[in-house]
Amino acid sequence: MEVLSQNGAKPGLAVIIVEGDSASRIYVNNKKKACAEVGINSEEYALPSDVSEDELLKLIDTLNKRDDIDGILVQLPLPRHIDEEKIIMAIDPKKDVDAFHPVNTGKIMIGNFDFLPCTPAGVMELIHESGIQVQGKDAVVIGRSNIVGKPMAMLLLHESATVTVCHSKTQDLKQKVKNADIVVAAVGRANFVTADMVKDGAVVIDVGINRTEEGLRGDVDFDAVSEVAGAITPVPGGVGPMTIAMLMRNTVTSFKLRDIR
Ligand code: GUN
Repeated sequence: MEVLSQNGAKPGLAVIIVEGDSASRIYVNNKKKACAEVGINSEEYALPSDVSEDELLKLIDTLNKRDDIDGILVQLPLPRHIDEEKIIMAIDPKKDVDAFHPVNTGKIMIGNFDFLPCTPAGVMELIHESGIQVQGKDAVVIGRSNIVGKPMAMLLLHESATVTVCHSKTQDLKQKVKNADIVVAAVGRANFVTADMVKDGAVVIDVGINRTEEGLRGDVDFDAVSEVAGAITPVPGGVGPMTIAMLMRNTVTSFKLRDIR
């Protein structure tokens, strides 16, 4: 943040939320709070659930043109009448701090990127900071979403893991997970990964955030799996805060590139 205080300018993040999804509201509030803590100017654009696609596109266009806005984040999911892909495509790739735009996903694919998608990047940070070796390890990613599963697999591959991506049509899922040294669960189903599926000593990273009658639960049966895993992340408090930290990092990266945008 030294760079920022020198000329008085601060990074700017625009957060757009289309109201209606209660989980999105919580995530957006957490993102704004983190911005305030680290010295990023955040602007929230809360749009009604019946906002038109055109209005949203116009707002993005205005934000694309503003020099003081370094990052534009449209919280997903969007209501069904709005084409999510069209919205993502409208964001200037240089301000795409989620790294969802095809220009950025393409850059990630070839290993030459400015931004990494926040959740997979947060998972990699957790792995690095814990001193876990990735090279040559068998990694299983459960889930193939554009936001988490696919980029997660790519980041693990960049670090020379042997990566298997499992999904709803995978056969013998248990056997595949059981073989893994590193398991990343991004399925969106509470307690999906059970202790019998996990190899002794495996690293288990839980990306799931599921609201159940018993409260917030990950995709991993934490109590039972922590008996067999060598390392495991909790929900809440594991990957979630890292996602936000990576958003802050991407926004600062974009700010530093402001003059050459
Ligand atoms: N919805 C769930 N996760 C995310 C995220 O990382 N970014 C955005 N924009 N929407 C999300």
